Amino acid sequence: MSLMESKVCLSDDFGPKISILGYGNMGKALFKYLLLCGVQKKNIRLTCRSEEKASLLNKQFDMEIVYICNRIAVSLSSYVFICVKPDMVETVCKEIANYLVPNCIVISLAASIEISKLEKWLTRIDLFKLTIYRSMPLISISKGSGIFPLFTRSETNLYHSVSPVKFLSYKSCQVFEVESEAELDQLTIFSACGLAYLAKLLKCYYDAGSALRMSKQLRNRVLVSTVKGLMDLYNQGDVGDFDKRLNGRATWIPKGSLETFESITEKVSSKGGITEASSKYIDTKMIEKNFEKVFGVANSKLSSLKN
Ligand SMILES: NC(=O)c1ccc[n+]([C@@H]2O[C@H](COP(=O)([O-])OP(=O)(O)OC[C@H]3O[C@@H](n4cnc5c(N)ncnc54)[C@H](OP(=O)(O)O)[C@@H]3O)[C@@H](O)[C@H]2O)c1
Repeated sequence: MSLMESKVCLSDDFGPKISILGYGNMGKALFKYLLLCGVQKKNIRLTCRSEEKASLLNKQFDMEIVYICNRIAVSLSSYVFICVKPDMVETVCKEIANYLVPNCIVISLAASIEISKLEKWLTRIDLFKLTIYRSMPLISISKGSGIFPLFTRSETNLYHSVSPVKFLSYKSCQVFEVESEAELDQLTIFSACGLAYLAKLLKCYYDAGSALRMSKQLRNRVLVSTVKGLMDLYNQGDVGDFDKRLNGRATWIPKGSLETFESITEKVSSKGGITEASSKYIDTKMIEKNFEKVFGVANSKLSSLKN
């Protein structure tokens, strides 16, 4: 189901009103994703800090949808996505708290900022109940793919007939709820940061291709297909089922059996062939150790951002 098909209350004939606070890398990716989901541009409010950027963007969009005031944006929205950096979240929450409309859903994309803090910072003078989610999507949602995990400890808000898990679902993007904030933190490192780690690894692989005297043009042409071929083998082309319910939460369940990386390596390495002879020189232990170190540093940084 796309956003357009959802029967979200607080929406009009043109769909729900959505704010994205902070139009940086993530805000931009989310904006593109919502458009892919079928949300109309005029139903999205984007915010940034500078007049110049806002007017430049409004010109570019040919529509007045970019604001420099978070308060106005949220007062017009039933869904509010917080896409500023973690150290700005407290300021933004306190700024908008009394301007949120009743029954709105706030979804924070900021790494490490726990729900308990969001609840405290978003407390309104009149203390109406808010539905708060945390999420950690991959920047690749701009292309309609990746993961969009969510966590909430709020009860389902009956005012909204469709939970964000359903209304954010789009084709090859996996939208699912996790059981704990600890899982969201694990996904922050393994998946959201993981895109950068894997990009660095692939850059080494790509650059090493020059040792084969292989042209950049040819490398560009085949790299994506090579990686995609590997992932298709691993996934068997099936992203899974979003509709199964586990412990009352919509959960992603993979379909079909997954090939292991070991079995793929084995299939490519014919006995006595080139892959078999050469792939043993890849120092997997060293790469694994390196990643353990990377994850350790990421964990420490994530913990320090919580304080
Ligand atoms: N990048 C990712 O892959 C990724 C993935 C998942 C989650 N996240 C989360 O997404 C959040 C944003 O990350 P990012 O990479 O998009 O950072 P970013 O590119 O620096 O974007 C943050 C944006 O927020 C704007 N901003 C700051 N204060 C604001 C305010 N008071 N009102 C409105 N806009 C404000 C900034 O404007 P200026 O240009 O004026 O500074 C900037 O454009 C972070 O909390 C991060 O943990 C990021």
